[in-house]
This record gives sequence, structure tokens and C-alpha cells, in this order.
Amino acid sequence: MAFPDAWLSELLSKNDIASVISEYTELRPKGGRLWGHCPFHTDKTPSFSVSPDKQLFHCFSCKAGGSVIQFIMQAENLSYFDAVRHLASRANMDMPEEINDRRLVEQKLLRERIYEANRETANFYYRSLFSEAGGGARRYLEARGVNADTAKRFGLGYSPDGYDVLYKHLTEKGFSRDVLLSAGLVVKGRKDETKTYDFFRGRLMFPVVSASGKVIAFGGRTMAHEEPKYINTGDTPVYNKRENIYAINLLKGKKLDDIIMVEGYMDVISLHQAGVENTVASLGTALTNQQARLLKRYASKIFYAYDGDDAGQNAMIRGIDILRSAGMEPRVIVIPGGKDPDEYIKEFGRDEFMILKDASITGIRFKLSRLAAKCGTDTADGRQQFAIEACSLISKLEPVERDRYIPYVSETSGLSAATIREQCGLSQATPSANDPEVVSRKRYVGFKRPKRDSERTVSEKRLLSCIMSSAADGLAIARSKLFSLMLFTSDSMRVFAARLISEYESGKNANIPLMLAGLDAEGSEDVSSAYAQADSISDPVPCAEDIMLKLTVNALKDELSELSKRSAGAGSADEKERALNEYKEKYAFLQNLLKTNVRK
Ligand code: CTP
Ligand code: MN
Repeated sequence: MAFPDAWLSELLSKNDIASVISEYTELRPKGGRLWGHCPFHTDKTPSFSVSPDKQLFHCFSCKAGGSVIQFIMQAENLSYFDAVRHLASRANMDMPEEINDRRLVEQKLLRERIYEANRETANFYYRSLFSEAGGGARRYLEARGVNADTAKRFGLGYSPDGYDVLYKHLTEKGFSRDVLLSAGLVVKGRKDETKTYDFFRGRLMFPVVSASGKVIAFGGRTMAHEEPKYINTGDTPVYNKRENIYAINLLKGKKLDDIIMVEGYMDVISLHQAGVENTVASLGTALTNQQARLLKRYASKIFYAYDGDDAGQNAMIRGIDILRSAGMEPRVIVIPGGKDPDEYIKEFGRDEFMILKDASITGIRFKLSRLAAKCGTDTADGRQQFAIEACSLISKLEPVERDRYIPYVSETSGLSAATIREQCGLSQATPSANDPEVVSRKRYVGFKRPKRDSERTVSEKRLLSCIMSSAADGLAIARSKLFSLMLFTSDSMRVFAARLISEYESGKNANIPLMLAGLDAEGSEDVSSAYAQADSISDPVPCAEDIMLKLTVNALKDELSELSKRSAGAGSADEKERALNEYKEKYAFLQNLLKTNVRK
């Protein structure tokens, strides 16, 4: 049976795949995923991976894969329906026929109401910034060099310094206390829970706006020397800070070569005002996989420009790994003197900042220099330690990429390039048994793979991956002259592609993990392994065009050889002629196809 999407989606969010699977096998994090021994076969090295971001599992050895539902089907040997029931009871949820849909409708209404309250609040704060009460905040902005145009563009505001100024205003506008509490705009009194206070009081306000233009949260900075410096909206039914990026709304409709990621509100604002308008912030938290995927929709080149302090530098290290595992090539802008981008651009101007950007280093090179600083290269021991750790890092890279860093490691450690090369080879020959990167590479050599994809399946999967990359890319591919659903010989992939494209076309936010959850075990393997690859394709549209061309050409060639056999074995002159004509037509078509689609 088909379950209602909203219900299934709640079921999935309450049965996080990592926590469910942890009940069956121990998982350890590595490179943005979790790894463990596959519960479905004897697995000496951990080749079973779980992606918390995509809510998928995949075994690199036995090729089992899918959502948490398919996992339970296999682990508990249950039908689809019973696996869903199992997960519902695990999450204390009623099965859909037993609940009234009222609750879901109410949740949706609540979210809508929170958006309205946030919008009204942003307007209220904005007006109060330019009212008499906002004088101090205006002077603060002026002292920090933020002009009125910029304040307007970012919708900056001021939260009045009373106990419940906003609460009274919103109540007058008809918003209920419950809605405002859920929105995080007001809080209950600590001693007397019936009292209601504004959450933000006497602060400079920064609204956080989603990609679709909705006000989803606020940050508020003190203008005194008060702690905490910033307070922010916590998680609400419309906001999860792990999924959002500050100023993402301002990237819309721009043609971007790259994006600059900074840490804070003020960095974004300063850089925009100075004319660096492709700047966004992760807002202090370490970058998450969801944020990486969001960024990737706008540009695949990311420049990190975090603060020069230790916290900023360490956050970049983690972020680099996350961006790389999402298929992006992060670079790092090193800001001298421990300054943050706001301070630097104010002191030295846009051009100097762009020079720093030109002088940026790759994420790997940044990690290596942090490693050198950590080990200390003044002593022989330090240099040796650096060489060992650096080689272990670069031995995991592709050989062509690795070669770029050997001179730096050799120079910094004072060891010869030959020694470094040998050390890299060595660390590769003695992989630690639980290193998943090594495991996944090794499966091509020593492993017996129970299921091997034909070349055709590999291409179809890749085509599906391209379509899954994003709605924009998926639609561009579907509208290509070369595209046809018939390119998919696999039923499950064809049906999935058709459904996905129609979701894209309807402008809905296609929830791929949810769609995957609805597939049976067999269908889900191909589709989920295609989804697992979607991140690693940097240019989905040209990649898809290449595949479509190849698939079409192969199909035409098959038909041509079929036709030539038919004409040779034709019983009558009439039949022979028909086969030949068809052959000529198809042949001309093929020639034309090849002529108009040659790629440089
Ligand atoms: N942050 C936070 N809470 C804090 C401190 C920081 O939420 N107590 C977040 C804010 O999003 C802030 C970012 O982390 O913008 C970076 O922090 P920091 O570098 O300290 O602030 P700046 O953005 O540089 O702010 P300012 O220049 O106004 O000091
Ligand atoms: Mn700052």
C-alpha cells in the first residue's frame, strides 16, 4: 500500500537511519559517512556504509542498499508493509489508517503561521531601527561602517529594549502565544510560566532568509560588551541551523563562478557592501553535509575565508573534508594577522581582499600547512612526524593529485622527494584495516563482487545520478533532445526517473530519500546506488549528454545490425527493400547525430 507522503516523511525523520542501523552493527564516522561491518554477510573489513545526510545505506561488498525501510526488510526479513509497521512502532507512531490527518494539517498550518509571524517581526525590527528607539543601533552600524543601503538590503533591524514590546505588537496583529513560542520569538518566564517575554531585547537584528525568500530565523548582536555576543533562534518547525546558509537568498539569480564562505553575519555584510557579493556564512557552526549540498546548487567552487583564530582554522579543516566528500574543491583564503574578513576588507579594501583570494591555496595544501604548524618543523622529530602524517594524508588522494603536494611535503620536512614518494607508497601498502577509503578502493582488487553491473547498467545509473543532482540539472537533462525515458532499460530506474522529473516539473521540492523509501528492495538497490554517486558528478548536464549520446548511438548500432541481418535473410524483394530503406534512414540519423554532437 502507499502511505501518505507526509506520514512516511515523519516516519523517516523519527527513524534516523544511523540510529536504527547502530542497533544491528557498530558504526564509526569517516569522511562524512558512517562505516561498519555489513550485517547481511560475513564482512571482514567494514564495507558497509551509511550516509546520515542522504539517509541511505550501501554495502560496497554485497551491494545491498536503500533507505531505512529496505534495511529493516532485509534485517528482519519483513515485507515492505511490515517493515513500515515495525518502524512506526519503534517511533511510537500510529499507522496512517489509525490517525486522523488533522495533526498533519495542523503542523502545516503552524509552519505557515510561523513564516507570517517572522515576516511581521522582521518588518517590526526594521521599522524600529529607523525609529527614535533605534538611534543607538543606527550609530552602532555607522561606527562599524555599514551604510543605510546595506542595512536595507539585509533587512537589518533593532529589537526594542522592553520586556514584551514585540509580543504586544504581534498579539495585536492576531498571532497566538503558542505560535510565537514555537517560532522562538518569545519565551515563557523562568519563574512564572504564564509570563511571556521577547526573546531578543535591545539587540541589532539580522534576519535569516531561506533560499525561497522566507524569513526563517533571527540572530541578534549585543551592542554593549555583554555575553553572549550573539543569540540566535533555536530549532523551530521552520528552521534548522544545520540546513541553512546565511545570505543564500542573495545568491538567487546570479551567475556565479564561485562562492566565498565566511563565519559571521558581519563578515557577509561587510564583503557585500565592499562589492564581494558572492559571500555567504555558515553562522559559526562547522559546515554540515546538508549545507554543502545547498551550496553546490549555486556553485561548485568554494573559497573558505574563516577567521584567523584557532576555532576558525579548525572549522575549515572539517569543512574541507565535508566539501570534498560532496564533490567540491574547496580553496582557502588565508587572512594575515588573525583578522576576520570584515576587519580585513574594511582596513585594506576590496582589491586587497581579491589579491588574497587570488593567492588562495587548495584545501589539501591548507591541511598540510596546519599539520606542519601542529607538528612543528623546527626539530628533526617534528619534521619526521609531519612527513609521516602528511604522507598518510596525501596517500589517500588520487595519484595525480598526490603528485602536486610531494614537493611541498619534501621541502617542509627536509626529506627528499623520493623518500616522500616511498613513504606514500608504504602507507598505501599497509592500510589500516578499518580505513574505508582504502577498503572501498581495495574491493576492485581482492574482493569478489557478488553482483557486477553491465556496462549498460553503469551508464544508466550514471544518467540517473545526473538527473538526481538537482532539480535544475534534472530538468535541463530531461529537456535535452537526446533524452528519452526509453534510454533506461531497467524498469526501476525508468519509473523512478519519470516520477522524479514530474516532481521537478511541478516545481515541488522533490524529496529523494522519501521517494527511495517507497521502492521495493530490488528496485531500491540500483536507484539508491545511483543516488549515492550523485554528489560525485561535478557537471551533471554535460555528463548526462555524453551518456545519452553513447546510449543512443549504441541502440542505433544494434538496430542497424539487426536491419542488415533482416535484409540479408529477407524472403521477398519487397521485404528486403523495406529493411534497406529503414537501414538507410537510421544510418543517416546516426551520422547526423554524431555530426551534431561531437564533443571537444
Ligand atoms: N556566533 C554565535 N554566538 C556567539 C558567537 C558567535 O552565534 N556567541 C556566530 C554568529 O553567527 C557570528 C559567528 O558565529 O556571526 C562568528 O562569530 P564571531 O567571529 O565572534 O563574530 P563576528 O561575525 O565577527 O561578529 P562581530 O564582528 O560583530 O564581532
Ligand atoms: Mn568580526
